[in-house]
Amino acid sequence: MKPKVLVTREVFDETLQYLAGHCDVESNQGDMPLDTAGLARRLADKAGVICSLTDRIDGELVQRCPGLKVVSNIAVGYNNIDVAACSARNIMVTNTPGVLDDSTADLAWTLMLATARRLTEVEGNIRSGQWQGWQLKQWLGVDVHHATLGILGMGRIGQAIARRALGFDMRVIYHNRTRVAADIEQRLAATYAGKDELLAQADFLILQVPYSPQTHHLIGACELKKMKPGAILINSTRGGVVDDAALIQALTDGTIRAAGLDVFENEPRLNPGFLTLKNVVLTPHIGSSTEATRRAMAMTAARNAVAALVGGVPPNLLNPEVVR
Ligand code: DGY
Repeated sequence: MKPKVLVTREVFDETLQYLAGHCDVESNQGDMPLDTAGLARRLADKAGVICSLTDRIDGELVQRCPGLKVVSNIAVGYNNIDVAACSARNIMVTNTPGVLDDSTADLAWTLMLATARRLTEVEGNIRSGQWQGWQLKQWLGVDVHHATLGILGMGRIGQAIARRALGFDMRVIYHNRTRVAADIEQRLAATYAGKDELLAQADFLILQVPYSPQTHHLIGACELKKMKPGAILINSTRGGVVDDAALIQALTDGTIRAAGLDVFENEPRLNPGFLTLKNVVLTPHIGSSTEATRRAMAMTAARNAVAALVGGVPPNLLNPEVVR
């Protein structure tokens, strides 16, 4: 008998076809997010779940799923999953690192360029028919080239962001829990800095740390005040890393120039204060959302789940202690 799996949100046809070759698949192709009760009901007889960051897989839920062997997240971030609770029940947890680095770095850059050149404001001006023609001092932005780029979090995506800065002749400084290897620093022409130094010197600060209790509100009122006057903040990692209310205040009183945001606290009900600000560029959590990347993420998650269910060790296992 094939192991039963639940796919909690819509995926691509090839993902389902691959899964169906190995598993008995129930899929929520209607794509309405399942509430906790719905998720628990559907998971009661399943050995695996292919889930997304909109599904909360916590201790209470896994307790109600006695046959669950693998939780496979279609995301690199996994703050929606209580990994310790899964480990306690010998449930493997996997994610999709690697396949989304470049797309996510591209989006961080999109936000950086768009905020620097005030894209939302100027496009609104044209669309609303208000443009009166060329003027020397119209819509002045700031240069990205030759500016200082600060990257907070120098994992794979942070490094992909830094790599792109080489082509813009930027000075790159970064802060990370641990300093990256010297050859990587050299290749990226990136210099290690303390967190306060990073805040004080970056013209553009891009956040690329995962969300956890330790990184909750890593950027709040105090850190925003330490940023260079006129700096621009980019958050394309996870809501909650920034204190959104404090950011709205800093954008309103001019503590920083602008922000480019792909992620928010309480998605999708973001703080309405953002909506009336002119100096923000907002995108709806689309960092990895290119067709090729989302297909690759879904297939990676499917492969992780199948590997776990046929008795192997999935390539992207987050809690290896369960297979020791
Ligand atoms: C991730 O992989 O963590 C992304 O946020 C999902 O798009």
